Amino acid sequence: MIKSSADKATGFEKRFENVDTVVFEDSIAASKAVANEIAELIKLKQSKNENCILGLATGSTPKGLYAELVRLHKEEGLSFKNVISFNLDEYYPMEPDSVYSYVRFMNERLFNHVDILPENVHIPDGKLSKEEISAYCNAYEAKIEALGGIDLQVLGIGGNGHIGFNESGSLQNSKTRLVALDHITRVAASKDFGGLDKTPRTAITLGVKKIMEAKRVVLMAWGEGKSNIIKASVEGQVTNQVPASFLQEHRNATFVIDKSASSKLTRIDTPWLVEKIEWTDKMARKAVLGLALSLKKPILMLTDADYIENGMSDLLADSGPAYDINIKIFNKVQQTITGWPGGKPNADDSKRPERAEPAKKRALIFSPHPDDDIISMGGTFKRLQEQGHDVHVAYQTSGNIAVADDEALRFAAFVCDYNEKFGIKSSEATLIYEKAVDFLKNKKDSEIDIPEVRYIKGLIRKGEARATAQFVGLPDENIHFMELPFYETGTIEKNPIGEEDIKITMDLIEEIKPHQIYAAGDLADPHGTHKVCLDAIFESVKRLKEKPFMDDCWVWLYRGAWQEWGIDEIEMAVPMSPGQVLEKRHGIFKHQSQKDGVVFQGSDSREFWQRAEDRNRETAELYHQLGLAHYAAMEAFVRWIF
Ligand code: F6R
Repeated sequence: MIKSSADKATGFEKRFENVDTVVFEDSIAASKAVANEIAELIKLKQSKNENCILGLATGSTPKGLYAELVRLHKEEGLSFKNVISFNLDEYYPMEPDSVYSYVRFMNERLFNHVDILPENVHIPDGKLSKEEISAYCNAYEAKIEALGGIDLQVLGIGGNGHIGFNESGSLQNSKTRLVALDHITRVAASKDFGGLDKTPRTAITLGVKKIMEAKRVVLMAWGEGKSNIIKASVEGQVTNQVPASFLQEHRNATFVIDKSASSKLTRIDTPWLVEKIEWTDKMARKAVLGLALSLKKPILMLTDADYIENGMSDLLADSGPAYDINIKIFNKVQQTITGWPGGKPNADDSKRPERAEPAKKRALIFSPHPDDDIISMGGTFKRLQEQGHDVHVAYQTSGNIAVADDEALRFAAFVCDYNEKFGIKSSEATLIYEKAVDFLKNKKDSEIDIPEVRYIKGLIRKGEARATAQFVGLPDENIHFMELPFYETGTIEKNPIGEEDIKITMDLIEEIKPHQIYAAGDLADPHGTHKVCLDAIFESVKRLKEKPFMDDCWVWLYRGAWQEWGIDEIEMAVPMSPGQVLEKRHGIFKHQSQKDGVVFQGSDSREFWQRAEDRNRETAELYHQLGLAHYAAMEAFVRWIF
């Protein structure tokens, strides 16, 4: 049984959940727990002289699990000699030695580092002819059956609830087969393939039936991005629209998830519905705002009956009547709104989000990519500058991999044409452009950019970032390009945060000695660039904590292009007029390489300026629905106390 010290919920509190679900503090602890269960099983089988039949998954989710299994092999002598593995799936068509193949993934992450026998490894073959597939799939299943079935099946989960590549609509008794990939799946995979058009449309997958026949199933999921589908799979109805929900009917399945992926489960999201809780201010605010929004009533219109009928009678008993609670929460929310993100000089600041003093603050805005500053807090950025603060912006990474090849080719060819026209001889400085043009014209899909091309792509983004910062009104010396080394791998996969990244970040903070730091607090994707950039800031701030200037430094977190803070979490909301919304749009337009279809579009087809406008308008609408003033748009921040 998988146990987590971070999850104390009992059966009663889990009563909305229809499958065993264990929540871990983070994906590292969770992966270790799963690795331990697998190791115990392998050893148990060894002691009985039996094979251990494992069903394995690929994708970002099991990376930590495989790393831990490799560690157990290397450091604790866990042997894989009795393991026979069957992978869930493979793209079709796919050459096994392609950088995108699951064969390569498995070899690099696990098989090359442990003593599993090569003949015991099975991964669907992506290079069969179409005619061969059906017989191959039958044989794949027959082999599993002949070995007595899968002992333990490892699963990830797709954004649509797929398991393996059994997409929405797959039947519970579906067989191993060739399937067409769902649009959502292809969009998620497109970040690895460098664009949707290069992403395969089909795959071979183990059917749901064989997954359900496994003696034990462990499904893992990390990050807020998976939280909605986890709720649907764990608490929703069993439906073929969400194939992971079939596991509710499995006799020995466990969902192993981290805190962020659990955030929408009833016991986490609205715990007052499952148990008697200690009402903290935070919890009361969340419950009351949730109540007002779900009943479509302004806060001040909520009645005692509304509280009682919606599972909040103990809050009413504690701190009621409704009017008292309403007023208290309304005032709290009201106080988050400020047009003075740097503090209002000479004003009573006891109930304002920011301090009045010093009237002129040094503000340091960290932007993970070259456009996050303007997309996520462009209105606040401009206000800080206009209100006379000394505003600095620091672009943490070059963002070079998000520039399309044709864009880079256009710039490089421009320089080459110019040189040719004016008879400028190739020098070391101009040679890189010729080399880049040559490379880009002949680049194959799976090829990684040469450093010259990466440099040009980085330059394009640098130019755009500078244009935005100048548009906001910053002098050149307040624009900093950090080019953190963790990012510079040339591939989607980034290095983990290193000492050098932290040092660069610390040096900049020390140089500026800011009163305010703004940082992108996106935690949706545990492997994403934003998370690493945030970790670098957190670590730097912690290490600098004892320095006297840090006593005056406040850290405000904004959210990136992908999501917004929960309405109950917001501690500072900066309103924008229609004119300011338009101005921000023009600031975002400076990022021309990120317009009109970007390399990493994600599942959202809107352009970044549209996402930003929609999101800022939605925040303002929520405030309005709650009965507060109605603005055109709002940017939201949460303070991080270190
Ligand atoms: C991979 C597989 C898929 C993934 C799922 C989640 O072998 O079968 O079902 O587990 O798409 O992918 P990640 O882990 O990348 O979020």
